[in-house]
Amino acid sequence: MNGRPRVIVTRRLPAAVEQALGEHFDVVLSRDDHQWNPPELQRALSECDALLCTISDRIGAGVFAASPRRARMIASFGVGLDHIDLEAAAAHEIVVTNTPGVLTDCTADITMALVLETLRRAGEGERELRAGRWTGWRPTHLLGRKVTGRTLGIVGLGRIGLAVARRAHFGFGMRVLGFSRSTISSETLAEHGVEPVASLEALLAEVDIVSLHCPSTPETRGMMNASRIAMLKPGSFVINTARGDLVDDDALIAALINGHLGGAGLDVYAGEPHLDRRYLGLEQAVLLPHLGSATRETREAMGQLAIQSISAFFAGDVVPNRVV
Ligand code: DGY
Repeated sequence: MNGRPRVIVTRRLPAAVEQALGEHFDVVLSRDDHQWNPPELQRALSECDALLCTISDRIGAGVFAASPRRARMIASFGVGLDHIDLEAAAAHEIVVTNTPGVLTDCTADITMALVLETLRRAGEGERELRAGRWTGWRPTHLLGRKVTGRTLGIVGLGRIGLAVARRAHFGFGMRVLGFSRSTISSETLAEHGVEPVASLEALLAEVDIVSLHCPSTPETRGMMNASRIAMLKPGSFVINTARGDLVDDDALIAALINGHLGGAGLDVYAGEPHLDRRYLGLEQAVLLPHLGSATRETREAMGQLAIQSISAFFAGDVVPNRVV
């Protein structure tokens, strides 16, 4: 193409990424970092060659259908792709890329943080201390559950699930059971300390903690429903750093309230940034605002991957991390 591609960016990005975008492209940056609605996304697709969107932008078939459309590619800043209608993108011959790999460690780290905070009641302790209610050390104060040596079930053995398994098994001496719909080699499982199980149900019956690491798809949405939660042992814990809609909120909240579950650690919610307000009243729920990849290093690396994909596309090269 003649001249530099025009790239519209939907959200603020780390300063180093915004600067690099300006060096490569005719870039339009977000000024106020607000979440765009479908008409704004449609307008952007008619005014740019590439849209650099994020997982907070919902790009459904209606957005693609708008005309005139100028954009020929969408670089999504993130690994999950449930916010983009990929079939519609393919039908409109729009290339889509994502940023996998570089957020694996940080998402696995925050998963372990949620395991620790939930079992050790860290949120409750901090709230008590900040409210001036701490009366000092005592043997029965805020007793949680021991993390080391427990059994952890990983649902979804992609990069992040395996990285969590490695930390849990080799770092915390946990027995790690894993379930995945795809076939994982026995070498990979052994390297990450994972014992495979044949079904999700078999995993749920055995573990003390279940951690979700699968994408949101029609098959996985609502997978942690009332009957699956009932299969967990009394006092078990649910951790979710993948996508909020994997969990049936009514079922999870009911199991927390009736005491079947010991707690839940959540970084993601159906309908973000809104979440079921009932979670807010549950002391045994540790709630984070979707921070899995939120480190400077990772967000800069995600930006670099997006820049590489856009550059390759407009140079006519093989596009890294192309999903459509
Ligand atoms: C992703 O990239 O899909 C994450 O959820 C954002 O950290």
